[in-house]
Amino acid sequence: MAYLDGIKSIEELELANQRVFIRVDFNVPLDKEQQITDDERIRAAIPTIQYAIEAGAKVILASHLGRPKGKVAPEYSLEPCGARLTELMKVEVHMPDDCIGDAPRKVIQDLRAGEVCLLENLRFHAEEEENEEGFIKELGELCDVYVSDAFGGVHRAHASTAGLPRIKSERGMGFLVKREIASLARVVDSPARPFVAVLGGAKVADKIEVIESLMQD
Ligand code: 3PG
Repeated sequence: MAYLDGIKSIEELELANQRVFIRVDFNVPLDKEQQITDDERIRAAIPTIQYAIEAGAKVILASHLGRPKGKVAPEYSLEPCGARLTELMKVEVHMPDDCIGDAPRKVIQDLRAGEVCLLENLRFHAEEEENEEGFIKELGELCDVYVSDAFGGVHRAHASTAGLPRIKSERGMGFLVKREIASLARVVDSPARPFVAVLGGAKVADKIEVIESLMQD
């Protein structure tokens, strides 16, 4: 498929004993008690995480949650996501209290093949959204291989989605990104005409460009 030409799938990457950074999208809705009200995004990431575990990777998961605007905000902690992942996958998820610095470095150093670490919210650092070089380098020092599986966030030119894969030669996409791009390609490239598009989601402003693009046809 043309959209994915030149992009390796996770199955083509050497994962055994490697520190594998998987950018997931755990930006799930939470209620006032920090309870997850819909865990579909966590469930959708499981095939890639499971594959990496079984391939003997040291799995490092990273995500944003909400828009904390570069400040540490407990209500945007990824802890509930780590707990839900443990419930769903029956694996221990190690959770350092930051995504860069000593805490993740230590956890990842001690990580064994097949174990999972979930970094704290990338957006607690403004440098994530700024795609800042120093921050990219710090994330880069934590891993050997990069896997893009945050389908809901791949359109963002942020450090963990755009800057980091640029500095990792061993990189590719996970099953979720592959599946979603394949599904989208089918409906965008050769839809039966006339067609009706049904768009959902909370952030209406973000959908306008998609609507404009669909209307060109
Ligand atoms: C989403 O929920 O649309 C994605 O996780 C991206 O989040 P963002 O719009 O805050 O970048």
